[in-house]
Parts: sequence; structure tokens; C-alpha cells
Amino acid sequence: MMGNGAPVGDPFQPHLEWGLKASFVGYISSLADGRIEASNGVWQAGNSLVFPASPAADVPDNEVWFNGQVSFSGHGGMMKLDLIEPRVENHDETITLTIGTATGRVAIAELTETAVSRAFGLVKTRFSAVLTESGSQLFNGQYPAGQQLEDLEVVLRG
Ligand code: HEM
Repeated sequence: MMGNGAPVGDPFQPHLEWGLKASFVGYISSLADGRIEASNGVWQAGNSLVFPASPAADVPDNEVWFNGQVSFSGHGGMMKLDLIEPRVENHDETITLTIGTATGRVAIAELTETAVSRAFGLVKTRFSAVLTESGSQLFNGQYPAGQQLEDLEVVLRG
């Protein structure tokens, strides 16, 4: 996937870092025609995808918006999953990660804050993530709701 020539981001830029689900990334990589394509500012750090924070001015207080898109595809186009402009949203003490898809915005994961650290003028918040029911549908039901996903890290200016 994003090998030589892939964009390299500035680690001091506010961003969301997420590996989605390592076994899914491994599954895509194992397909003869499996592809993972990043665009609109997404870069790769280790096993994670990094989405830059959105500079939009009209973001509600209880949400953090990120730019960029990652598309996973394989099986001759029958398997396709897009992660578009993720948002972390806090509604009534429930924190969700939503993503744009071809058919609208979907809550893919429910998040639980597990750690906060500060360095270099940035606040780094770590979350554990489990799949929602609508997230399960994005994976064709291959993973049940409640499935543990990779942890997320949100890095913002503090
Ligand atoms: C032609 C259509 C498809 C075929 C032939 C196919 C085939 C397979 C096979 C053989 C596996 C088992 C892989 C392994 O255990 O190593 C698998 C796993 C999986 N497939 Fe598909 N699949 C298809 C479509 C889809 C679609 C539409 C999705 C939706 C995103 C999907 C998502 C998954 C997921 C999430 C796994 C589990 C990966 C893991 O974590 O181990 N597949 N598929």
C-alpha cells in the first residue's frame, strides 16, 4: 500500500491516527487485487492511517472533524469500504467515530477514552474502539457489533 512516494505528514499537525482493524488490513493485503488507497491528505504512520484535522470553522463544540479518505477494495470490486472524513462526536456522554460512506455518514465505532497525555503543545487522547451495529454492516456482517477494533489516537493543539 502507501509505499515510497506516499505523502509524509507533519506529526505536529493535529490529526486522528487509526489502524482500523489489523486483521482486516491483513486480509486486504492478502487478496491478489486488494488495494488500500489514501487521498486528500491522509498519510501512514506505522500500522496506522493518519487523517489531518479539518480547518473548518463551523465544527460543533462536541465534535472534532478530520479530512481525508481511505478506500479499501478487492474481490474484483465486490469488496469496497471507504473511510471518508472521520469525525469524533460526543453526544450524551457517548463518544462515536463517524465516517462518510457512499450512502451517507455512519457511526462505525463507539469509543472509550483510555489515556490523555501532553507534549510539544499537543494533547494526545487515546481511545479504545468497538464496532457498532451499523459498523458491522459496513463489513458485510463479518465482524459482529462489539468487535474490538484498533485503538485511536486524537492529537490536538492544547
Ligand atoms: C466476492 C466477494 C467476497 C469473497 C469471495 C470473500 C472472501 C473472503 C474470505 C475467503 C475470507 C476469509 C479470509 C481469511 O480468513 O483469511 C473473508 C474474510 C473477510 N471478508 Fe470477505 N469476501 C467477499 C466479500 C466481502 C465484502 C463485500 C466484505 C465487506 C467489507 C468483506 C469483508 C471481509 C472481512 C471483514 C473478513 C474478515 C477479515 C479478518 O479480519 O480476518 N468480504 N472474505
